[in-house]
Amino acid sequence: MAEAEIKKGLAGVVVDSTAISKVNPDTNSLLYRGYPVQELAASCSFEQVALLLWTGELPDDVELADFTAFERSHRALSPELKQIIDALPTTCHPMDVCRTAASVLGAQDPTAEDSSREANLAKAKTLLAGMPAVVAYDQRRRRGQELVEPREELGYAANFLWMTFGEEAAEPVVDAFNVSMILYAEHSFNASTFTARVITSTLSDLHSAVVGAIGALKGPLHGGANEAVMHTFDEIGIRQEETAEEAEARAKAWMDDALAAKKKVMGFGHRVYKNGDSRVPTMKAALDAMIEHYDRPELIGLYNGLEKSMGEAKSIKPNLDYPAGPAYHLMGFDTPTFTPLFVASRISGWTAHVMEQLETNALIRPLSAYNGPDERHLA
Ligand code: CMC
Repeated sequence: MAEAEIKKGLAGVVVDSTAISKVNPDTNSLLYRGYPVQELAASCSFEQVALLLWTGELPDDVELADFTAFERSHRALSPELKQIIDALPTTCHPMDVCRTAASVLGAQDPTAEDSSREANLAKAKTLLAGMPAVVAYDQRRRRGQELVEPREELGYAANFLWMTFGEEAAEPVVDAFNVSMILYAEHSFNASTFTARVITSTLSDLHSAVVGAIGALKGPLHGGANEAVMHTFDEIGIRQEETAEEAEARAKAWMDDALAAKKKVMGFGHRVYKNGDSRVPTMKAALDAMIEHYDRPELIGLYNGLEKSMGEAKSIKPNLDYPAGPAYHLMGFDTPTFTPLFVASRISGWTAHVMEQLETNALIRPLSAYNGPDERHLA
């Protein structure tokens, strides 16, 4: 038999088709169900975008009102789940709390084993509505703060910020957060979505697929990069008294040293986009709005310094995690909470893929080329 060609990391391999999103690296564009993501970010709420991903169409007023009512009435952390979160050490990573919470929500769901589209859509909506309370409470408990109950009169983004900080966020902050949720929602067959599809392909349940996806997202080569970006900023040193120019010079020097030492710098590069991530301009605009709102020009200096040096040395462009990290920092999130924010958003995309996978399911089971010892026998 001819030796099989191995595509390491499945790079360039087309595994299946999807109608949920289209990534086009040639034109640097990303479409959700046909709509450019930057158009959605400019004029939609995250709730509308989640419905678009699940159903294929933007909701009309009645559909949106129905989902809004559902989402707002499923936000609260149950006492049982709160107790389980409280039992977890505050030294564990917040992604471990998300993963555990998704698993508990599955175990508590009486329809968990019903894989009909109707049941799965209800599960997706419930998970999307419930995850912000988990993320917000986990950050609060680590700071020694009490749980903040959700407020039904606030939209998803405003309520998420309310539950995290216990005060109403200013409008530009809510807008930037909403944009980040939309941009993080979906990105075709990335590692975590593929994980969710692999799990679904065995006819396992939706919550198991989401739990597995959270595990895949945690890594710094994937979702964990937004957290890692902030560690880079911290390593360079954030000095509020500095001008943007001073910060930029220090960031450039740091990047030059890092590249000379052959370090991988998180927040740069992408498997699919080689000429810039389609989501970056929109998230960069949201970051600029945050820098202006909080009056923190030194952060844009650090941002520009790293980007310029990386561009000059290796022509590698930033990915979405690069502007998202400092934007979340400015909003007040603790750095380890950044990837759980990605989870809260990506639940929409993952669950849309779970439902799509089931429509034309085939067990995902690739082959491997054996390179161990030749056949041998016990003496
Ligand atoms: N810093 C320094 N060098 C880099 C980087 C980087 N961030 N990304 C790629 N390179 C270099 C890499 O060292 C290699 O150079 P050489 O050919 O000299 O060995 C070349 O570019 C190709 O890199 P690769 O890792 O083989 O390419 P890939 O397509 O497998 O990698 C990637 C894609 C995202 C894993 C990689 O760019 C990376 O590790 N980036 C940092 C992590 C990161 O920001 N991840 C978030 C991805 S986007 C959001 C998401 O999906 O979650």
